[in-house]
This record gives sequence, C-alpha cells and structure tokens, in this order.
Amino acid sequence: MPNIQEELSKKLKERRAKIAILGQGYVGLPLAVVFAQAGFDVLGIDPDQSKVDAINRGESYIGDVPSDELAQLVTAGKLSASADFSRLQEMDAVSICVPTPLRKDGDPDMSYILTVTEELATYLHAGMVIVLQSTTYPGTTREVMLPKLTESHEFKVGEDFFLAFSPERVDPGREDWTTKNMPKVIGGITSACSEVGALWYSQALETVVPVSSTEVAEMTKLLENTFRMVNIGLVNEMAVMCDHLGLDVWEVIEAAATKPFGFMKFTPGPGLGGHCIPIDPHYLSWKLKSLDYTARFIELASDVNANMPRYVVEKVKDLLNDHDMSLNGSHVLVLGAAYKPDIDDVRESPSLYVIDLLRKKKAKVSYHDPFIDSIAYEDWKLESIPDLMAGVQAADCVVIVTDHSGYDYDDILENAKLIMDTRNALGVAGRESAKVARL
Ligand SMILES: NC(=O)c1ccc[n+]([C@@H]2O[C@H](COP(=O)([O-])OP(=O)(O)OC[C@H]3O[C@@H](n4cnc5c(N)ncnc54)[C@H](O)[C@@H]3O)[C@@H](O)[C@H]2O)c1
Repeated sequence: MPNIQEELSKKLKERRAKIAILGQGYVGLPLAVVFAQAGFDVLGIDPDQSKVDAINRGESYIGDVPSDELAQLVTAGKLSASADFSRLQEMDAVSICVPTPLRKDGDPDMSYILTVTEELATYLHAGMVIVLQSTTYPGTTREVMLPKLTESHEFKVGEDFFLAFSPERVDPGREDWTTKNMPKVIGGITSACSEVGALWYSQALETVVPVSSTEVAEMTKLLENTFRMVNIGLVNEMAVMCDHLGLDVWEVIEAAATKPFGFMKFTPGPGLGGHCIPIDPHYLSWKLKSLDYTARFIELASDVNANMPRYVVEKVKDLLNDHDMSLNGSHVLVLGAAYKPDIDDVRESPSLYVIDLLRKKKAKVSYHDPFIDSIAYEDWKLESIPDLMAGVQAADCVVIVTDHSGYDYDDILENAKLIMDTRNALGVAGRESAKVARL
C-alpha cells in the first residue's frame, strides 16, 4: 500500500496534483502561470475580486505576464482564480505569496501570513504540500505556521502533510532571469518536506536548490537582500564622501569596476525602493532584537539610505541657490515615480519621499512617469503631467529620480534650465554641464 508521500509524489510527477497559489500579485501570478504552463491545473486565490475577475477574463495586470499567455491558459481551463478559500479543500499543493510589509512602527506585519495559515488549517488534509514564499524572518514557517496548522488536527508534518519555505527572487521587469529559470532554493520542516517541495517545484522550474531546513531557506533570502541593502548604503555614503572631496563618484565606480575580481558594482541613488530591499532586512533585525542582538550593518545602512532623499533635496536647494533662486516657490519637475526603471511599481519609491520633502520646502512640484498616471503619499496626490517636454521647459529645476530608458536624456538636457541627476542618467554630458548637479 503506497504511503502518503509516495502517492503525492506520483500525482506531482504526473501533473495530476491540483495547485493553489495564495496571493495573485507580482510573485503569485507569474508562479501560477508557470505551473499552468507545466501542465498543472492551477487556481489563484486572492481576496481582491478585481484581480480574480481580471484573471478569469484572461487580462493580466502584471507587466511580466503577457495577457495573451494568460488568456491562453484560462481558455484551456488550466488556470482560473477565485476569492473562495474553501476551494483549498480540493488542493494538493499550495504556495503562499501574500504580502509581508512592515507595520507603521517598523515591526513585521505578519497578519497576511497568519490569515492564510488559519484558512489552510481549516482545509488541511492528508497528502497536502504547502510552501511559504513570502519573505519573512527565520523561524516563521516552523514557529508560526506549523503550530497553527496542526493545533486542531492529528496530522503529522513530514508524514501526513508537508511544509516548506522557498524564497522568491523575482525581479519585476527582468527578462533574462524569470520565474521559470531563476534558481529556486527550498527547505522543508523535515527532509521529507524538502523532498516533496523540491519535487513539486522541479516539475515547472528549471533549477531547484534544496537546503536542509526552512530556517536556512528563510535566512538565504535575508542574506541576499541585506547584502544589497548594505552595499547600496556603502555606495550611497561613497557618493556623499566624493561630494565632500570634489570627486565624481560615478567615475570612481566605473574605474573600480574594471577590477576583474573582488569588486561588485553598486550605484548610488536617491534612496531605496520597492517591496524588498527597504523592508526585508528589518524582518531580520527585528528577530535578532528579540534575541538581544543588534544587527548593526542593517541599522547603519538603513540610516544612510533613508537619508538620501533629504540629501537629494539639499542638492536641489544648493543648485537653485547657485542660480539665484530658492526652493520656496520654484517649479520642480520630478522625472520618474517608479522605484526603478521601466516598471510601474511605486511601492516605497524614493520619488515619494523626494516629492514630499520638496513640497514641505514649499516648492511647486509636478512629476512625470510614462508608467504611472498618479501617485499619492501622506496628504497629497499628484497626476503625471501629460506633456513631458513642456514640463521640462517650464520647470525651474528637473530632478531625475528614476532613469526610465524611454526618456530622451539629450533632449531633457537641452531643454531644462537646471537638472539634479540622481542616477547619472545624463552621463558625461551631465558632468560637463554647468546647469547639472549630480550625486
Ligand atoms: N515583488 C517582488 O519583486 C518580490 C520579490 C521577492 C519577494 N517578494 C515577496 O513576495 C511576497 C509577495 O509580494 P508581491 O510583490 O507579490 O505582493 P503583491 O502585493 O503584489 O501581491 C500580494 C497579493 O496577495 C493578496 N492577498 C492579500 N491578502 C491575502 C490573503 N489573505 N490570501 C490570499 N491573498 C492575499 C493581495 O490581494 C495581492 O494580490 C512578499 O513577501 C514579498 O516580500 C516580492
């Protein structure tokens, strides 16, 4: 008589396992598509009815998922969506891709993980594999999820059901490394959990990297993002130090990057943005604080990075001052609202902080972004100006915050009165122009 693990493994290998992906955002929808393309029947579950309806109409709202690919899977009956969590009782394999933001006080907001864990506990059955993908602190899967899943069941983890963590590495807008070909780390509560999780994921993803535990998998993600955050903090401080020394940080970085080993290029900017780098390391420092340890690198880098919008606004103020103007009352046009080029994601974008600080200094601020029609923060809301070049010509100062590739930077340089370039978007031409200030 085959045991539960063998039966589930067989279902997974034969693509008969029914899959649910909880959370249909930047991470969940691409994952649902990849599993459906691999031949599984996939259900995306999300409480946001507008997302559910869009998926069922075959309309994508995520840049990395073309609508025609989605529509093909929906029409073929391989992919659908629902807001009904009771559908979990039909599922063999469930992946969790819900948000893990910070609360207002800076502590991890675990409410989404807790809510889905409660739903899963209600519908848990023998022969189910569950993989958490939301970024979180080491210990979450074992200490938070597992007790909740098992409190009202007799099921044994690693025998009756299987629980694992697999960090997400998607980089929205990126075409060379996608959900399908990005190496995927996975670690289970028990070795059987790792085996089942890795077997499931390897049916659709090209490279699966099993590790010994959920904690190792959780910490892997936090090492990756802390590495980026700390190096961005270092290079941001380099930019400030180079400014004090009268040196061009961009030239220094390019020169250093010619070293064939032992140096990895990071570039300065107006601050951290996105759902990951500014947030994830705080999950780690929060956990360490509970163990009476201070994560010093994280705190220092966070402090340097958080100060960059203020530093940019100071540079704008100095630039205007050098040209006999004050920030108070000047027209400032911010180019780019997204947190990085060529995407429509404004979460934690430094543009919001730069605009907010400029407004607090009584500048008359407008913005342009080809991907984002409107933005809101605290007590204000702005709409992207319709005519880029008219806005550039009218502004007393243009601040390049996001270096979207569609902008014609030669044209912007020619038409603007003054420019603060936080991304080296103007390159050497910016360095040589008296009307341009740079990081
Ligand atoms: N976006 C990225 O680039 C990225 C990269 C790596 C890791 N991550 C991590 O992946 C996780 C998801 O991020 P995202 O960018 O996809 O977020 P997102 O906000 O784009 O999507 C999350 C989705 O979860 C849904 N949701 C909320 N509550 C739910 C519930 N109770 N049940 C089911 N769905 C629910 C929301 O409606 C939303 O559609 C986060 O932990 C994030 O840190 C994101």
